[in-house]
Amino acid sequence: MKLSGKRLLITGASSGIGAATAEAAARRGVELALVARSVDKLESVAARIRQGGGSVTTHAYDVCDAEQVARLAGEVPSPDVLFNNAGAGKWKPMLETEPAEAAAMMAAPYLAAFYTTRAFLPGMIARGSGVCAFMNSAASRLVWPGATGYIAARWAVRGLFESVRMETAGTGVRAAMATFAKVSSEYWENNPGSEAHIPPVQRMVPVLSPSQVADAILDGLAAEREEIVAPWQLRMFFLADRLFPATVRWQMRSKEK
Ligand SMILES: NC(=O)c1ccc[n+]([C@@H]2O[C@H](COP(=O)([O-])OP(=O)(O)OC[C@H]3O[C@@H](n4cnc5c(N)ncnc54)[C@H](OP(=O)(O)O)[C@@H]3O)[C@@H](O)[C@H]2O)c1
Repeated sequence: MKLSGKRLLITGASSGIGAATAEAAARRGVELALVARSVDKLESVAARIRQGGGSVTTHAYDVCDAEQVARLAGEVPSPDVLFNNAGAGKWKPMLETEPAEAAAMMAAPYLAAFYTTRAFLPGMIARGSGVCAFMNSAASRLVWPGATGYIAARWAVRGLFESVRMETAGTGVRAAMATFAKVSSEYWENNPGSEAHIPPVQRMVPVLSPSQVADAILDGLAAEREEIVAPWQLRMFFLADRLFPATVRWQMRSKEK
């Protein structure tokens, strides 16, 4: 798929991976619609894109609110690519996670992606083209102690991706999922305490920058890949998990630094 001239809607575009993907996409000639709650941050991303000659609109909405998502869909034409990226959540063990925190972690990313995809999918199906892309984490396949709400929500996003892939077969619309290990984004400041629960095995997988992740996402979308996984060491972990699940579970539980 040629990305230049395509319309890309990114949720969670005010910071981190979403902002980096927006800026990298603008450099590739993509027209952007950026969504997040923080107006100032969203406007600074858009200003940098406009300075570079890019085309961008901003939409300050909370994508965990189905009514706000409906308003968003009334404001933005059906995109060629919808990138469900908005997400948050502190990494904590179950017994330290309040019920309200568990619900909030399910709201963003999972319900946000459900509402936004449900709002834009009919336009894509009517046109017979489009990509529903989902941001995801190594936590959608591997499990370790200390991040219960985060892990459960990322498994939910993976289920949503698989379901959308099934239900759009034959319509001309595609689903894609991008999965990464640790990224050096603002996530860790925005969700304090989370870094303490990163499993020690993460040291075997290089940390990517938001711009490396942005390039991997855009290259994957251009190549029409359904599953984008980086870096390659993470793909090795997924393979090991399929072949030797008990060994990988033991490794994920290991507290050795
Ligand atoms: N950082 C990592 O190591 C890593 C690795 C793999 C996957 N991921 C996933 O990548 C996604 C993006 O994370 P990031 O690293 O870029 O973190 P980030 O810098 O904290 O960015 C999160 C983005 O989501 C937006 N957002 C959160 N709740 C929202 C809501 N209810 N409505 C609209 N926007 C909302 C935030 O904007 P506002 O606050 O302005 O609304 C922000 O733009 C997350 O789903 C995360 O789980 C991260």
